[in-house]
This record gives sequence, structure tokens and C-alpha cells, in this order.
Amino acid sequence: MCLPRTILLITALLVSQSIFAQGSAFGDAATADDIQTVFWAAFPDGEYLPEGSGTAVEGEVIYQQQCLACHGVGGKDGIADRLLRHTADEIAENPKLKKTIGTYWPYAIGVFDYIRRAMPLTAPMSLSNDDYYALTAYLLYINGIVDESTLIDKTSLPGVSMPNQNGFINALEGIPTRYDFANEK
Ligand code: HEC
Repeated sequence: MCLPRTILLITALLVSQSIFAQGSAFGDAATADDIQTVFWAAFPDGEYLPEGSGTAVEGEVIYQQQCLACHGVGGKDGIADRLLRHTADEIAENPKLKKTIGTYWPYAIGVFDYIRRAMPLTAPMSLSNDDYYALTAYLLYINGIVDESTLIDKTSLPGVSMPNQNGFINALEGIPTRYDFANEK
């Protein structure tokens, strides 16, 4: 084997070893830290929401830096104009606008969960949990759901009632609304 290839192989081995050294090895039980780095879901009842907090006042500042370019001033207009309720005429032109946070989303936690995993579009998961809580507060505020000074965190967020919370029905009777991990076979 020629020298450059040998060097490349050794480098690749060292890099892969150092990556594995950061987490549990194959076959080890995953630690809470390991899970935190890959498991991003927060459940509708608040389970798995992280520490952190923020208000709409704080969120507005972050919104202007991170979101306004695509979502417009105060959540309206812009190339991704879909954060606020729209008029009947606007909805007739673009049916996607019917399903906004204020008119469709059943759980406030979904807002936090979605923006933390998907936004800003160009750099998902790049902000702190405090930032995502503040942005959630701001999005709920501009949709008329919370006050601008309401502190949003893992305790208050599950208690926020969404306007369309009761607009969903269970079309498949007998399917549990929640998976029972404790009784998993
Ligand atoms: C580069 C453009 C861009 C930036 C910056 C951006 N978004 Fe988005 N956002 C989008 C697009 C495009 C969609 C629609 C995605 C889809 O339908 O799959 C979207 C969807 C959303 C939705 C879902 C709306 C709905 O009801 O369908 C929310 C909430 C949201 N963005 C919040 C944010 C927040 C908060 C920020 C700032 C942290 C942000 N976005 C930054 C482009 C952007």
C-alpha cells in the first residue's frame, strides 16, 4: 500500500475512534446525555420538554434576527407567509394558509417541538432552548393565544389551550391516544 493511502487509513481510524469515544460504545446502554443528543421529540403532555424559558418580548428580538427574512414582519407576508390566520380570500388563493398555529395546531408543545427541530430553515436546531421557548411564546402571542409577558417553559407550555384543541376526533376507535411504554411486551 502506498504511503498516502496508509496515512489516510490511519487518520480515518483515529477519527472514527475519537467519534465513538464521545458517546457510549456499541452494546453499552445509552446514557441520558446520549439520548439528549439524538432524541428531539417533546410529547403533547409535556414529557421530554427540556429546561429553559422565554417570553414573547424576548422572542420578538430573536424572531427579527432569525425568522423575519422568510416569515415577514410580525409573522405576516414574506416568502413563508404561514404563521398567522389569513382572510377568506387569501385562503381561497392558497389553501395551505388555512392550517396555521392559531387555527389548526392542537397542541402548543407542537410549536416548540416543530421550530426546535426544523427552524430556522437554513440552520435547524442551531438556537438555545431558551431561544426556542421565547420564539414559541412570540408565535403564540402573535396568534392571540398568550400575553406578551407570559413565561413559557416546560411547566407552563403544556397548560396553554389552543383554539382548535377540540377540533380533532379519533377516527380509529380503540387506538390508544397514548402509547403505553410501561407495558411494552
Ligand atoms: C430561510 C427561510 C426560513 C427561515 C429563516 C425560517 N423559516 Fe420557518 N418556514 C420556512 C418555510 C419554507 C416553511 C414551510 C415549510 C414546509 O411547509 O415544509 C416554514 C415553516 C414554519 C412553521 C410552520 C408553519 C405552519 O403552520 O405550517 C413555523 C412555526 C416556522 N416556520 C417558524 C419559524 C421560526 C420561529 C423561525 C426563526 C427561528 C423560522 N421559521 C425561520 C422558511 C423559513
